[in-house]
Amino acid sequence: MWNQYYNLKLTDLDIQKGHHRSKVGGMWDEMGKKQLGFMKEMGLKPQHELLDVGCGSLRGGIYFIKFLNEGKYCGLDINSSLIRAGQAEIKQGNLTGKKPMLLVNDHFQFKLFNKMFDYAIAQSVFTHLPTNVIQRCLISMEKVLKPGGKFFATFFETKDNFTDNPVNQPGGPITYLDKDPYHYHLSIFEYLIKDSSLRLSYIGDWGHPRNQKMICFTKMEQHAPNRDIKGEI
Ligand SMILES: C[S@@+](CC[C@H](N)C(=O)[O-])C[C@H]1O[C@@H](n2cnc3c(N)ncnc32)[C@H](O)[C@@H]1O
Repeated sequence: MWNQYYNLKLTDLDIQKGHHRSKVGGMWDEMGKKQLGFMKEMGLKPQHELLDVGCGSLRGGIYFIKFLNEGKYCGLDINSSLIRAGQAEIKQGNLTGKKPMLLVNDHFQFKLFNKMFDYAIAQSVFTHLPTNVIQRCLISMEKVLKPGGKFFATFFETKDNFTDNPVNQPGGPITYLDKDPYHYHLSIFEYLIKDSSLRLSYIGDWGHPRNQKMICFTKMEQHAPNRDIKGEI
């Protein structure tokens, strides 16, 4: 599960000085507003249950919490000091009454929230993860999305599949096959959800300033697993 965020430790002073804002990529207000604007366009309403995967210090979270009804926001992150910073942002924004639920967890154990979700988002998270960890995230997500529920995730895209060439992302970083920041060919996501009740759709450009593309995993209303049932009556 290791990545640069696993061992990041912010002190209380770091948090007071606002260092947690740059640690999740900066552009605090721009990227916060953009996430909420996008999710509203995709149908997010105040009464929906939202899961923010890799929520960090709540760059998007603060905007989501303001918009959603009480108790509707859940955020999970691998890093405890970013979650502490998120709690400080909630206090500062007078949003404690909205009762957001935050969880530090390194195995995507979304079930610990004890609810099913209408929407989920992982903004700038898959960009830091190898494929096996992304698959764990998707396996856990399948179990907590309501039928028809949608999980949006951003990723750095490569159009060339079978090459180890780094990609110079327009307006963004150089991305890699096998190190953070990772890029992926779209087809890998189709492969990762094979035999699941999730379906992939490509949204692509959503105005991300560093050229991260958007995909959506939708939980099917009814799922007939495509598995061999030989021997069963
Ligand atoms: C670039 S930040 C984005 C944070 C937030 N989504 C946002 O838009 O501000 C990446 C986040 O992913 C989190 N992360 C990385 N690996 C993770 C994992 N395996 N499980 C949960 N969160 C993870 C990091 O701790 C960090 O908060």
